[in-house]
Amino acid sequence: MTSVNDIRSTFLDYFAEHGHEKLASSPLVPRNDPTLMFTNAGMVQFKNVFTGLEKRPYSRATTSQKCVRAGGKHNDLDNVGFTARHLTFFEMLGNFSFGDYFKEQAIELAWTLVTKEFGLDRNKLLVTVYHTDDEAADYWKKIAGFSDDRIIRIPTSDNFWTMGDTGPCGPCSEIFIDRGEHIWGGPPGSPEEDGDRFLEFWNLVFMQYEQTPEGGQDPLPRPSIDTGMGLERMASILQGVESVFETDLFKHLIDAAASAVRKSPTSETVASYRVIADHLRSMAFLIAEGVLPANEGRGYVLRRIMRRAMRHATLLGTNEPTIHKLVPTLVREMGQAYPELVHGEAMIAETVRLEEERFLKTLSRGLQILEDETAGLADGDTLGGDTAFKLYDTYGFPLDLTQDALRGRGIGVDQGGFDAAMARQKAEARKNWTGSGEAATSAVWFSVLDRVGATEFLGYESEESDGAVTALVREGAEVEALGEGEEGFVVLNQTPFYAESGGQVGDTGTMSGEDASAVVLETTKQAGGVFAHRVRVTGGRLEKGAPLTLAVDRARRTAIRANHSATHLLHEALREVLGSHVAQKGSMVGPDRLRFDFSHTKPLSDDELAEVERLANGIVLQNGPVETRLMAVDDAVAAGAMALFGEKYGEEVRVVSMGTALEGEKAGKTYSMELCGGTHVRRTGEIGLVRVVQETSVASGVRRVEALTADGARAYFAEQEAQLRAVASALKVSPRDALARVEALVEERRTLERQLADARQKMAMGGGANENGAAAETIEGVQFLGRVVEGLQPKDLRGLVDQGKKQIGSGIVTIVGLTEDGKAGIAVGVTEDLTARFSAVDLVRAGSEALGGKGGGGRPDMAQAGGPDAGKADEAVAAVKAMLAS
Ligand code: SER
Repeated sequence: MTSVNDIRSTFLDYFAEHGHEKLASSPLVPRNDPTLMFTNAGMVQFKNVFTGLEKRPYSRATTSQKCVRAGGKHNDLDNVGFTARHLTFFEMLGNFSFGDYFKEQAIELAWTLVTKEFGLDRNKLLVTVYHTDDEAADYWKKIAGFSDDRIIRIPTSDNFWTMGDTGPCGPCSEIFIDRGEHIWGGPPGSPEEDGDRFLEFWNLVFMQYEQTPEGGQDPLPRPSIDTGMGLERMASILQGVESVFETDLFKHLIDAAASAVRKSPTSETVASYRVIADHLRSMAFLIAEGVLPANEGRGYVLRRIMRRAMRHATLLGTNEPTIHKLVPTLVREMGQAYPELVHGEAMIAETVRLEEERFLKTLSRGLQILEDETAGLADGDTLGGDTAFKLYDTYGFPLDLTQDALRGRGIGVDQGGFDAAMARQKAEARKNWTGSGEAATSAVWFSVLDRVGATEFLGYESEESDGAVTALVREGAEVEALGEGEEGFVVLNQTPFYAESGGQVGDTGTMSGEDASAVVLETTKQAGGVFAHRVRVTGGRLEKGAPLTLAVDRARRTAIRANHSATHLLHEALREVLGSHVAQKGSMVGPDRLRFDFSHTKPLSDDELAEVERLANGIVLQNGPVETRLMAVDDAVAAGAMALFGEKYGEEVRVVSMGTALEGEKAGKTYSMELCGGTHVRRTGEIGLVRVVQETSVASGVRRVEALTADGARAYFAEQEAQLRAVASALKVSPRDALARVEALVEERRTLERQLADARQKMAMGGGANENGAAAETIEGVQFLGRVVEGLQPKDLRGLVDQGKKQIGSGIVTIVGLTEDGKAGIAVGVTEDLTARFSAVDLVRAGSEALGGKGGGGRPDMAQAGGPDAGKADEAVAAVKAMLAS
C-alpha cells in the first residue's frame, strides 16, 4: 500500500528532480496576508512572489502545505463528514513556477507524475479547462492524447481560481478520476457533479492576473504556475478506497476514536467518526501554531471546529472529554512530517481537554433545549433566531453547530433573527459600558469596535505580519486618510503590536505599504478590544483599506519579553523567600527595566534580596520552555495559578507557566504559574540574568523592587565594572586591590586628621607665647587668654579650654573653634579661684551673641555655646574680653 507519507515524499522528490526547490509548509495563520483567515492553498506563501513584490533565489518550488478551509473563502466545514472527499484540514501538494515554465510544461510534468510515478490508469482520467482556454485544451490533446470529450470546458468560477477577494488568480485545469459506475455521481459540469464518482485530485492554475480590491484584474509581471493536489485524495485513489476517510492515516484516527468511545462505526454513525477525525487534525495544527479557542476571529473558527467535533463525540454516546485522548495517535501519524505536533503535544491535548470540559458543562442542557424547542417542527420548518441565539449565548453553541444538529431532520435556522438578537445584545453591552470619562473619545472607539470588531492579536507568535487598515482616527474623529507628517491612530484587522495592558508597555515599530510609511509611537487598547496604533506618517498618504506590512521593533520587544517573564520569576521567588503574604500590587514592564510592587511590611535585607535573585536565576538557568494555556478562570486558580485580586478577567484566561521548582515545598512542580495576557520569552534562558537594582517603599505595606534582565543587566554590570576600574586606576592599583587600598587610605586619613587637629591645637595654644605657654593678657588684674582656632570640632573645645586654664594657672580662657563647614563654637573656662567673680555661663552667652547664636550652657567654671556666624569669631573673643573690663 502507498501510504500518505510515501505519496508526500514521491511528489516532493519528483519535483525536486525537475529543478524545484523543496520548501517547508508555511504556517496556517498567514503572516503575509491580512485578508485570509487561514492558509487555504499552497500558493499563499508565494503570493508576493507571483505579483513580483518579492524576489526569491529560485524560480521553481515544491511544497506540501498545511491548509485549513473552514472560514472565509473556500469554507468546507459544513461538508465534512457527509462527502467522501471534503476535509477542513488537508495537505496540499504543489509545484510552482515563478515566471519560469507555463502551461505546456505544467501539464507535461503533471501528466508524467500521475501516469508514470503514481501509475494511474490513463483511461480513467479526464480534465476540465476554463471555457475560453483553447491553449490548455490543445496541450491536453497533445500531451495526454485526450479526445475532446475528455476535456470538459467549464464556464464558471470553478475553473477560474482565486485565492480570496484579492491576490493572484487565473484560469485553471483540474484533473479528475472516474472511480466507477458503482459510485453515484456525474462528470464535472453535469447535474450529478456533486457526487463522489468523479473525483478531482489536482488543480493546475495558470496564474496570469492579480485580483485588485476594486474588482479588477491586473496582469502579473510574468505568467506563472500554481498547482494543488489533495494528498488525502491521492491517497484514497492509490489505496483503492472510496473515501479519504478510509486511507491509512484516517483509518488509524478513526480506530483511535472508536476505542475511545468503545464502539465501532456503523453506517449510521460513521459520519460522526469522520467529523471527529478531520476536526482533530484542524484543531491540533491550529493550536500547535498558537491559535487558541476564543470568541472572535480565528480563535472562534477553531472553537466552532472543536465544538462541532465534541457534539459528534456525544452523538457516539460519550459524555466525558474524549477527543483529547486522540492527540497521541495523531502525533504518531503526522509528527514526523510536522514536528510542531511533537513539540506541542502536551499543550494541544490539554487545550482540547479544557475546551471539552468547558463545553460539556453546558452541552447536554443546550441539546435538551434544542430538542424541546424543535419538538413540534418538521422537515422544512425553521427554528427561531432567538432560540439559536440563546443557545449560542448561554450554552456556547456556535450557529453552525445548531444548524448541523438540525440538518438531519431538514430543519433550518432563522439566521436573520439570530443576527438581530446578536445586534441587540451588542447595543445593550455598549449602553452599559462605563468608560474612563473621556466621553467623546470613547464614543469614536465604540463606533469603530461596532463596525470592525475587536482586533486580532498575532503578536504572541510573531513580530511581523500584514494587516489591512479598517479605521483611522484623528483628533477624536474617524477620517479617511492620514497625510504625511500627520499623527493619528490606525486600526487594523490584525496586528502583531501588543497594546499596553497588564503593566506591559505597548509596542512601537513601523508600518509600510505601497503608498505610505509610518512609525508606530505607541499601541493602546480602546473600547475593550480595538488596538489603536498611534502613528506619525513619515511618507505618502495612509488610507483606509490599505494593506500594510507591520513590523514591531524587535529588539525592544525582545527586551520586554525578558522583563515580563522575569517579573513572574521575581514574584514567585519573593513569595518563596518572604512568605505567601506577598501579592502583586502593581507592575510595570518596559524594555529597559521592570518594576514589581508587592505587599510586604519591611525593607528586604541584603540576604533576602540575594536569595530572591538566586532563586529567580536558578530558573533562568534551567532554560525550560515557557508554556501558555487557555483556561477557565476558576480552573486556573484551582490549578494554583496566581491571579490578581480584584482584577476583572474574561471567562477564559491565558495561563503562563515556567520553570520547575528545584527546592522547597514545590520541588519538582511548576515554579511559576500566573494568569497573564503579556508576551513572554520562549525559554527561560532568554531572560539571561535577573538583577535587582533597587528595593524601596511605595506606600505603607507595599514594597517595590526594580530589576534588570538580559542586555539591561549586562550593561549595568559593565557600568559597575567600568566604575571599579576607574577607581582602581585613580588609586593606581589593580581592581582586586582597590578595596584594601581604600581601607588603608581611610585609616590613613583618620590618623592624619587626628594629627592635624593636635597640631592645630598646639599651634593655637602656643602661638605667639613664650616657651612656657600661651600668651595671656591681663585685664583689670585678671589674666585673659583668647584664641580663634580653625578646623576644630565643638567636642574638642573643652579639652583646649582646660589646657589653657592649666597654662595660665589663674584667669579666663576663651576659645572660638571654627569647623570646616563654616560653623563656630565657643567655650569659656574660669579657673576655680575666680568663679565667685565671673560665671563662665554669662561670659559664653556674650560671645555666642556675637556669633549670632543664643544661649549656651554649662557651669560657672566651664560653659559652651554655638553660633552660625563664623565670620564673627574675633568679635566673639572681644565680647568676652569686654565683660572683664566692665
Ligand atoms: N491554488 C490552487 C488550489 O488551491 C492550486 O494550488 O486549488
